[in-house]
Amino acid sequence: MTENMETKLNNLSIENPNDDEDIVDPWNVVSKSEKGIDYDKLIKKFGSSKIDSELLDRFEKVIKQKVHHFLRRGIVFSHRDLNSILNQYESGKPFYLYTGRGPSSSSMHLGHLVPFMFCKWLQDTFNVPLVIQLTDDEKCFWRNIQMEDAQQMAFENAKDIIAIGFDINKTFIFSDLNYMGQCPEFYQNVIRIQRCVTFNQVKGIFGFDDSTPIGKIAFPAIQATPALSTSFPHIFGKQKLPCLIPCAIDQDPYFRMTRDVTPRIGYQKPALLHSRFLPALQGAQTKMSSSDENSTIFLTDSAKKVKNKVNKHAFSGGQATVEEHREKGGNCDIDISFQYLSFFLEDDERLEQIKKDYSSGALLTGELKKILIDTITPIITRHQEARAKVTDELVRQFMTPRKLDL
Ligand code: TYM
Repeated sequence: MTENMETKLNNLSIENPNDDEDIVDPWNVVSKSEKGIDYDKLIKKFGSSKIDSELLDRFEKVIKQKVHHFLRRGIVFSHRDLNSILNQYESGKPFYLYTGRGPSSSSMHLGHLVPFMFCKWLQDTFNVPLVIQLTDDEKCFWRNIQMEDAQQMAFENAKDIIAIGFDINKTFIFSDLNYMGQCPEFYQNVIRIQRCVTFNQVKGIFGFDDSTPIGKIAFPAIQATPALSTSFPHIFGKQKLPCLIPCAIDQDPYFRMTRDVTPRIGYQKPALLHSRFLPALQGAQTKMSSSDENSTIFLTDSAKKVKNKVNKHAFSGGQATVEEHREKGGNCDIDISFQYLSFFLEDDERLEQIKKDYSSGALLTGELKKILIDTITPIITRHQEARAKVTDELVRQFMTPRKLDL
């Protein structure tokens, strides 16, 4: 490795952030601002590219339809090398999608739906194969979860993912703890990547130190490996295909490392599409996360629980009294109910009207919360109904290494 390369990677370090800087890495998302993470700043810090209107115009031209509302609204806001994937699609050449989930709880939450809903749209739009990595190994290192429990949670999470509606003929879901033993080509690629990355680099990127267990140090190569198509010989044979990875931007450190390594071992750098975080109910200073029950709407929550959580915990950008609210209006930039609606209410015109009405004071916080409850409850109920239909046998089919439709 050249000194330049190493300096470049160390400059992306998650260590030593300035005090007032947002912290965004695979384990922490924290901002001091009540408006939440400054995503423009993050683009600069991470060195990714903003998705601008020119790129969106090109996207629509290439797919000959309107882009997903996550793209229209800047929820999917940043990318790396998206143009190369659009070129590939335009010239009728194949590529594939790769995303994942770290099974740290048996229930996923509303925030996790974001990259997976977007992935479903990408799969339907481009009609391409998708591989989904369940990093049950990762959760044994970071969350001190027993291996058997992590495997069980991976299986349960696979049900949630399948319920989102992925096409079984185009989707392979795998658990690291199982698939690494089934597929020598996958493990061989892990080794190819591990040969290229020094301890110094992962220290810089992930903040590891001398007392970090070696499993954690070696793990980033395992999350990088699905970006090499030859890790799935039953799907791609020996073909080296370009890969597009949709994820929230907390996962970018893994893929900065991946993009540094892939050209050195004869593969194209994976392209990325980054989404923002669905914030915690209590406010946009942090993301929704499974570790805090009250900040989170789980996909298993009952309609009553969803209603209570929103009414009790969703941070309001409204004023202290009705009179004051009518006079001054609410602040959509910090209001959690409004922010959730921008993720889950598909109707652009209605969202715009709600913004106007809340900002002018015509719409009260309680009314806005009711609109949110009426919007997300059917999404969660439909998800629960779809999940109830996912049998263990169907999960096993999705998780069996097999040919997919290319
Ligand atoms: P995990 O399980 O933390 O998260 C799964 C996916 O959900 C995204 N995410 C969120 N998106 C919006 N709002 C939130 N509040 C929110 N919280 C999490 C994550 O960015 C991720 O896309 N190490 C990974 C698993 C993994 C993976 C991958 C993820 C393995 N390979 C490839 C993305 C792409 C993890 O623990 O994700």
